[in-house]
Order: sequence, then C-alpha cells, then structure tokens
Amino acid sequence: MKVAQHIKYDKHNIALALKEVDQPNIKPHQVLVKVTAAGVNPLDNMISRGEVKMIVPYKIPQTAGNELVGRIEKVGAEVSNFAVGERVFARLPLESIGAFAEYVAVDAQALAKVPENLSDVEAAAIPLTALTIMQALDLMQVRAGQTIFISGGTGGVGAMAIPIAKAKGLTVITNGSGENAERVIALGADRFIDFKKEDYTTLLSEIDFVLDTLGGAETQKQMTIMKKGGHLVSLRGMPNGDFARRMKLPKWKQILLGLAGRKWDKMAEKYGVHYHFIFVKSDGKQLQEAANLLSQAQVKPSIDTVYPFEEINLALDKVANGRSRGKTVIRF
Ligand SMILES: NC(=O)c1ccc[n+]([C@@H]2O[C@H](COP(=O)([O-])OP(=O)(O)OC[C@H]3O[C@@H](n4cnc5c(N)ncnc54)[C@H](OP(=O)(O)O)[C@@H]3O)[C@@H](O)[C@H]2O)c1
Repeated sequence: MKVAQHIKYDKHNIALALKEVDQPNIKPHQVLVKVTAAGVNPLDNMISRGEVKMIVPYKIPQTAGNELVGRIEKVGAEVSNFAVGERVFARLPLESIGAFAEYVAVDAQALAKVPENLSDVEAAAIPLTALTIMQALDLMQVRAGQTIFISGGTGGVGAMAIPIAKAKGLTVITNGSGENAERVIALGADRFIDFKKEDYTTLLSEIDFVLDTLGGAETQKQMTIMKKGGHLVSLRGMPNGDFARRMKLPKWKQILLGLAGRKWDKMAEKYGVHYHFIFVKSDGKQLQEAANLLSQAQVKPSIDTVYPFEEINLALDKVANGRSRGKTVIRF
C-alpha cells in the first residue's frame, strides 16, 4: 500500500516521501481502517521541522498524518463496539500516528462513528480540532453560565470551538477580522470584536476562561481581561512543567519544560489566573461526544481545498503558506 513518510527532520523542508509498504497487521485491540480522507494540519509540518520532538520523539522514517476517516475492514478479537463496514474517524494516538496511508491499524479506543450528516471529507476535518476544544474545556472545568473569550475565533479552531462552547452553555466572546464577523456570529458567538478596529483589553473584564489560539504577546494581553482564579488554555504558547507532568513526560523533560514555561507561570501568578498549555491527544469517547454536539448544532467544518493523496506535498505546502479559509484535506 502507499504511504507518505517523514524521512528526516529538516527545518527548511516539509516534503514527505511517497513509498510502498506492506499493509499493517492488527493487534487484538485494533481495527483495520481503509482510509478515505485525512485532515492536513500545521502539526504535520511542525513534526517534519522537528518542532515537537520534545513532546513526541518519532523515530524516522515515520508515516505522517494525525487524523483520518475511513471504513472498517477488519476488527481485532478484543474489539466489541465496532463492526466491519462502519464509517469511523479518529485523531490517531500520539505514539502511533500515520494517517497518510491507504490502510491504518487503529486502536479502537481512538475511534468514533461518523455522524450521517457529514461527508468523508468533512469528517476528516473534525477530530484534531474538536478534541482540542473538548480537552481545553475539560482542563478549564467550565460550567454553564460562565464566559469564555476565544482569541482568533475566525480560524479553524474557532469554527469548532464556538459551537462546542455554546453547546456547553457558555457565553462566547471572540475576535478576528471584521470581514468574518457574520460567519462567526452564525456559529453562535454572543459577541464579536474586530481586532483591527477595537482593543479587546479595554472592552472586556472579568472573563472566566480564555482559549488562546494566538500565543506571543497576545497571551499576556488576554490574562488582563480575566477574573481572578480564571483559566487560560493556550494552543500556541509555551509548554510548562504542569503540561509535562500531565503528559507523563520523563523527569528531565519535566524539569526542562518547567524552566521554559516559568515565564508564563509567573505571568499568570501576577494576574491571579491559571496558565495551561495543551497538545491534543486521541480519545474516541470524547470525539463521539464532540461529533454528536456538532451534529445536533448542525455545524459542518468549512473545507478549503481537497487534494488527491498523491499531491500530499502540495497540501502540506498550502497549509504552511496559503491563507486558509478552512481545512485542507487529502482524499484517497
Ligand atoms: N496545541 C494543540 O494541541 C493545537 C491543536 C490545534 C491547533 N493548534 C494551533 O492553534 C493555532 C490556531 O489554529 P487555527 O486552525 O484556528 O488557525 P487559523 O485557521 O490560521 O486561524 C487563526 C485566526 O486568527 C486570526 N487572527 C490573526 N491575528 C489575530 C489577532 N491579532 N487578533 C485576533 N485574531 C487574529 C485570523 O483572523 P483573520 O483571518 O480573520 O484575520 C485567523 O482567522 C495554530 O497555531 C495551530 O497550530 C494547536
């Protein structure tokens, strides 16, 4: 079967190699999925550039790709909740990525069933982003009636985060470019701030939670609008010691990331809030919950471009360099 692999870590080259390899054998707790589509993410390029080696040190060559949709071809002896022929999707487990392949052996615990209202291409755009939001909201321990500020909510993360946060009963405030205001309000946002015209730090205060999709100087600015004791989860900030312990990384990495993230922990302390970083993990149960919420809210991800598998490197380049209006997906 055909696969696309990371063959070396290179800061300046994100191209994958197309290869022929044997079809995988499944273990008793796995199913064999015939892949029909796979989401392409900035994370795939970050892995190529060696930027996440500290969190997940893949041995090269490594088949690339973090999320997929497909049909079940075989079911392992210990798997009772999935059957041959079912349409499933997943964010693959961190230690066994490899969605850019014609067949993938997937741990049944990572899988969820695809809601009927979604095409394969639409479904491929959901797992990584939806799970990111579910895991961020879990960490914040949100309760209905509280308020969340989602920075850069006009992007791919926002498109999933806004409806999921609304379904959990939160009041949602977000920002981005004014041209996207209408689309974001239609997703359920209660308030939109055009970051090019208005300064949210002068408009907002006493916010319970922040989902920071921007990082950099924005992280500190977002802390200034929060209620004391509030939680900020960053998707682009710096990992810290708490993150390393949560991920059960080796002791030396816990110490190193503890030092690297100290600046943000101190900053959070100054504003009386909690700072967290997350790296999205696989979780079939949580994905099923998110998929059901999105399907009830009748929300579909917006798709930018679909490439055939053979053009995977064009898809990765688009994610790295193109101005995106939605998800890039490859189809098999
Ligand atoms: N840690 C994790 O596990 C994890 C998981 C998923 C994603 N991520 C990361 O999360 C980040 C966001 O992902 P995404 O898919 O949402 O990216 P995206 O689609 O590129 O969206 C980013 C959005 O931010 C807006 N923006 C840019 N500068 C802004 C500013 N100063 N103020 C307000 N809005 C601003 C842009 O708005 P306009 O286009 O409207 O100008 C754009 O819509 C990426 O870096 C991704 O790698 C991390």
